[in-house]
Amino acid sequence: MKNLAVLHAAQLVTLAGPARPRIGPEMNELGILLHGGLLVRDGVIVATGASDDIERTAPRDAEFVDAGERVVLPGFVDAHTHPVFAGDRVEEFEQRARGATYEEIAASGGGIRSTVRKTRAASEDELRQRALKHARWFLQCGTTTVEAKSGYGLSVEDELKMLRVVRDLNALTPLELVPTFLGAHAVPEEHAGSPARYVDLVINEMLPQVAAKNLAENCDIFCEQGYFNIEMSRSILNAAKARGLDLRLHADQLTNSGAAILAAELSARTADHLELTEDDGIAAMQRAKVQPVLLPGSVYALGKTRYPRARGMIGAGLAVVLATDFNPGSSPTPSIPMVLSLAATQMKMTPAEGVTAATINAAYSLRRGRKLGSLEAGKCANFAIFDCEDYREIACYFGIPQTHSVYVRGERVFPA
Ligand code: NIG
Ligand code: FE
Repeated sequence: MKNLAVLHAAQLVTLAGPARPRIGPEMNELGILLHGGLLVRDGVIVATGASDDIERTAPRDAEFVDAGERVVLPGFVDAHTHPVFAGDRVEEFEQRARGATYEEIAASGGGIRSTVRKTRAASEDELRQRALKHARWFLQCGTTTVEAKSGYGLSVEDELKMLRVVRDLNALTPLELVPTFLGAHAVPEEHAGSPARYVDLVINEMLPQVAAKNLAENCDIFCEQGYFNIEMSRSILNAAKARGLDLRLHADQLTNSGAAILAAELSARTADHLELTEDDGIAAMQRAKVQPVLLPGSVYALGKTRYPRARGMIGAGLAVVLATDFNPGSSPTPSIPMVLSLAATQMKMTPAEGVTAATINAAYSLRRGRKLGSLEAGKCANFAIFDCEDYREIACYFGIPQTHSVYVRGERVFPA
């Protein structure tokens, strides 16, 4: 048995509360314990409380961690990432700096398809090594769980290859990766003339193997003009649902195609992006309890100005989630603190709402709300110590890492 006691947190941000996603004004309630402490046994939290009380009740053999009057938060849960890919897109980054748009670059064969070419050419081991670097980046930013999508393979073999990399990474890094099948990320070049045939391939060849091999918990799709329309999305997602996968959608990112409404119709767990979603989409999501996953990093990195309507969604009682959308093209950041900054400055979410969205609400969106996302007895001892005295500094000071150290199941994983 291994005991660990964390003492002297200026703020222990617990997010203790009801065992469900937080909505409306609840998103501002962080359950902060001043001068707090945390007791852990075998990787699981046994108690939170005043630092003095934790110190007094800790077993003699406990290892002590002095938080040094810093801020302690649950490890961030990043509910939308694309962490497995080869190569980079710095050429496109420069093209956009020179005025080209993401859509123009994609139309000329770049964008997702350019990463697909490099990912297909890479070996499984190359992809693993590269993704391990990304895993270290996430941990360094205070993130201890990520949802991880495939979607740069777009053939039966290459999609399975990506999902095996995600599976294997779980044994190679303390970062937890939750696998999502995104075979419908784009129509690959070889099927450009017949998207319907590619939809068939996804439904009849990819999904059965992904499900049989247990390689994914969720199925996602890029529902967008020029990618997968509403009808194609509906048939792929219905097939995924029939195989027991939870549904997530890239919805209303570049055009308002009614994807948020489709998410509600299919009882998807999440609809993500939502930059162009209007009142009807928000109302439909509210009725079906779909969680919106907002990705302001992609709006920022694409140089766009229309952020999703976070205030309208919180006002409507949606359990909003924030995530990075980490990927080499539209959102090259693994940093939840950066996302919290954007959420506050561009979407007018309070720092507390941001923290709730990137911890407990994100955990529920991945069916891990009973285990992750808050610092409460019975939950995993996944937490991050930030080098500040007030949690709002994490969002306020941007462009500088403030992570002091990160723990997964009671073990320090950063610095390694
Ligand atoms: O979430 N929108 C579609 N997929 C990603 C972009 C991936 C890429 O550009 O490689 C996104 O923004
Ligand atoms: Fe994405």
